[in-house]
Amino acid sequence: MCGIMGYIGDRQALPMLLDGLRRLEYRGYDSAGVAVVRNGRIDLRKASGKLSRLEQVVKVAPVAGSVGLGHTRWATHGDPTDRNAHPHADCTGRVVVIHNGIIENYLALKEELLAAGHRFQSDTDTEVLAHLIEAEYRGDLEGAVRRAVSRAHGAYAIAVLCADEPDKIVAVRYISPLIVGLGSGEMWMASDIPALLPYTRHVIVIEDGEMAVITRDSVRLSSVDGRPVERPIMHVTWDAEAAEKGGYAHFMLKEIHEQPRALQETMMGRLDEGRVVLDGIRFPPGFVETLDKIWVVACGTAYHAGLVGRWFLEHLARIPTEPDLASELRYRDALLAGNALAMAISQSGETVDTLTAMRDLKKRGARVLAITNVLGSTVTREADDVLYIRAGPEIAVASTKAYLTMLAAEVMLAVDMGMRRGTLDQARARGLVAGLHALPGRAQEVLNREPEVVDLARRYASASDVFFIGRGLDYSVAMEGSLKLKEISYVHSEALAAGELKHGTLALIESGVPVFALVTQRHVKEKMLSNIQEVKARGGLVIALAYEDDEETARQAHHVLPIPRVDDLLAPILAIIPLQLFAYHVARERGHDIDQPRNLAKSVTVE
Ligand code: AGP
Repeated sequence: MCGIMGYIGDRQALPMLLDGLRRLEYRGYDSAGVAVVRNGRIDLRKASGKLSRLEQVVKVAPVAGSVGLGHTRWATHGDPTDRNAHPHADCTGRVVVIHNGIIENYLALKEELLAAGHRFQSDTDTEVLAHLIEAEYRGDLEGAVRRAVSRAHGAYAIAVLCADEPDKIVAVRYISPLIVGLGSGEMWMASDIPALLPYTRHVIVIEDGEMAVITRDSVRLSSVDGRPVERPIMHVTWDAEAAEKGGYAHFMLKEIHEQPRALQETMMGRLDEGRVVLDGIRFPPGFVETLDKIWVVACGTAYHAGLVGRWFLEHLARIPTEPDLASELRYRDALLAGNALAMAISQSGETVDTLTAMRDLKKRGARVLAITNVLGSTVTREADDVLYIRAGPEIAVASTKAYLTMLAAEVMLAVDMGMRRGTLDQARARGLVAGLHALPGRAQEVLNREPEVVDLARRYASASDVFFIGRGLDYSVAMEGSLKLKEISYVHSEALAAGELKHGTLALIESGVPVFALVTQRHVKEKMLSNIQEVKARGGLVIALAYEDDEETARQAHHVLPIPRVDDLLAPILAIIPLQLFAYHVARERGHDIDQPRNLAKSVTVE
């Protein structure tokens, strides 16, 4: 999730580009760059690291001109280095592109362009677009861009400058956001509203599959295949802070609602017909086939994702998998035998307990696979393989979209391993891949029922103890639901295996105590219905989380939070969403600082 910005007018572009990029830094900040066209040439300035490094670069070597593009990067392909920073140019340096999104088929396009003699400067998917436009350019930038993007598959918001046509910016949107800001004799474009607010509040939201040709005095919209398009001009009333949150009250709520797109981006380019293709992983030949054990090390929410991952890996790939809290494993003197894989899961890639446990396992002979959200983070530099979740920057301390995309990554890994080991048949693999494809839409359906969760949160916001029970995968999800509630609403909460109720915790269930019962796993449903009866008999108030067509469970519970029916194995990816929303709205009812809860940090880099 990168930030893109452009300006065309009569003022100097650079100050506005830098200001706009700073307002977009929350979208990603591992490198940045600008390009300005003047006197028939394009000047480029780029720098890895924070935006302040780019500001240093342009202080030493300023660029003048009144038409330019800027980009702040959250890397997905190619490490965060100077040469991988955007904008990217073609062979001649007369066409430059900035891009937010993923070009799924960039490797095939890159091979074709290399074979045609194009010379690449970076490892990015984006640079392919610059060379495609160059190859298609016949004196008409607009036409060249149309032909180029028609060959690119994936998600993109791009903006293009051409030294031979200096009085226009050509921008195209497909899935990644793109907005045009309207001025008098000057125009802007950006990936998000915050970048435009100091200059204009009149904006046009470009929709999927549309192109904008932007000059100082006009914005001409069309579909990528050339049909004219009309879009309304909107007047933005948000202030800057509200705009960074996309109009949501908190980053956490914004990130909960970003989950369908985060899932889409995490799976993009990795799901082929009935099989999984995981970039960034290069297990040695025969390694997966002869794996004896997978150790999962992580903390907090990432650990809960590992608990769910164990089910995927043992069920689909038949590999003994042992999740362990990183802070515990490092003192266990773990007995590593045979061919072992250490799977370190960390959104930040910087959690010291996870890094320490990972290093210990590596020292004992395990090969390390990192699952993380941050390119260039410490865990990526020490792992043998990296599987990136592409959730985009997660600002709220309470992790939501990173958890969901960790689960999707683990399903894909388990399907890939199961196919390699012959423990997963083609039909089942196709079914799971189809199920994964449908998940972003299913997740949106769950989000659309947020008002039902708000009602429940208002009803139970004053509870002093809340319990979450489940069996199998539902128990693992219950643990994450409980942590979400604790860490932002400060309500005491506990998750337990439903079968354990009668071994002690049932003593705490009394009249009015809310108990979430997760009932998505078919093979233990009857047992869960008995647990619901156990809780109700003691006066507990049961909130069931069940499939929307499961009338039996709905009848037996006091309340139900329904999710669309999916493959039971994929149910955790939907079941957690109502629990995230419940935690959020209880915290909101209780008036807490949701994005920065007390005593907690986003990344625990100290012991
Ligand atoms: C999750 O909501 C918490 N913020 C916390 O448990 C977090 O998951 C944990 O600290 C691990 O962080 P990491 O994924 O960056 O390693």
